[in-house]
Amino acid sequence: MIPGIEDQTLTTPRITILATGGTIAGSAGSALGRGYRAGQIGIDEMVAAAGELGLVAALSGEEIAAVGSQDIGWREWQALYHAIERAFADPAVDGVIVTHGTDTAEETAWLLDLTLPAGKPVVLVGAMRPADAVGSDGMRNFANAVRVAGDPAAHGRGVLVVMGDAVFAASDVRKAATSNIDAFKGFPRGPLALVSPASLDWFAPAAKVGQGARFAWPGVLPRVEIVYAHADMDAAPVESALAMGARGVVLAGLGQGNASAPVLDALEGAVTKGVPVVRASRVDEGYVDRNVEVDDDARGFVAARSFNPQKARVLLQLLIASGVSDPAAMQAAFDRR
Ligand code: SIN
Repeated sequence: MIPGIEDQTLTTPRITILATGGTIAGSAGSALGRGYRAGQIGIDEMVAAAGELGLVAALSGEEIAAVGSQDIGWREWQALYHAIERAFADPAVDGVIVTHGTDTAEETAWLLDLTLPAGKPVVLVGAMRPADAVGSDGMRNFANAVRVAGDPAAHGRGVLVVMGDAVFAASDVRKAATSNIDAFKGFPRGPLALVSPASLDWFAPAAKVGQGARFAWPGVLPRVEIVYAHADMDAAPVESALAMGARGVVLAGLGQGNASAPVLDALEGAVTKGVPVVRASRVDEGYVDRNVEVDDDARGFVAARSFNPQKARVLLQLLIASGVSDPAAMQAAFDRR
């Protein structure tokens, strides 16, 4: 045995990469980005390219999908969840990386965070610029994700998102810019850590060590519609959401989660028919608290608190799927982080 080899084998993290597509596997088409196509680089090519970076990790890959994240949905989420379950059960896997388009990464991360135990590291990573674009960020972000997924201190933190040298909790993270490379922000917390291929600094100990999944994986995700509030608005969008069979409605409201009187009245009508309503805000950042501008107690609404409409939708889907209908129990789920 060559001295040091055994130690290195013992400490080299073994990481499973689950690829779904997006810009991190995309092609720019031209320096101007015209002709962009998502999910063009296969998982084998990505693992080989990562191997050339000299990362201290044993990488293996599985392709779940090769799509832009606008097309991620129930089929891909089921495949991801079950692949991660298998990775958690496999003693030969230390951590999981999910490569994902950035547009809906926050929804996939949050769904997985709510349905997986806080065990081995699960890290979503994407890129704002394709591998062949000027100033591409994909391999840098990927190397950072390897660093995080291979770190024992990443255990017990729930699902993480790594973008642009920052590590975010799934509950906090959102995409806040369309094309800027520094596109991801956290609310109410900023990053949990800063990472580079050479360093990783956590700002606090892991808070979820030993915690089980908050929700069982659902048999199906119920239809929940987001109604986007605006000036000069009548009740028609709420009525059409109900006519489409929505089992729940999230209001992407004005400011503190408000909307015109006809919209609020129509939403109250939905609650009386057994369709839960969660008030979130179309504003980029901030809390929506109970009974501030809207009388939630009287109307039977739930306040989304720190969650934006798309994250509120995922949480409401899981609450409905698990049979929770009491507004107070729903509010408690939105109050918890
Ligand atoms: C996508 O979300 O798949 C497209 C955009 C991106 O990955 O940045």
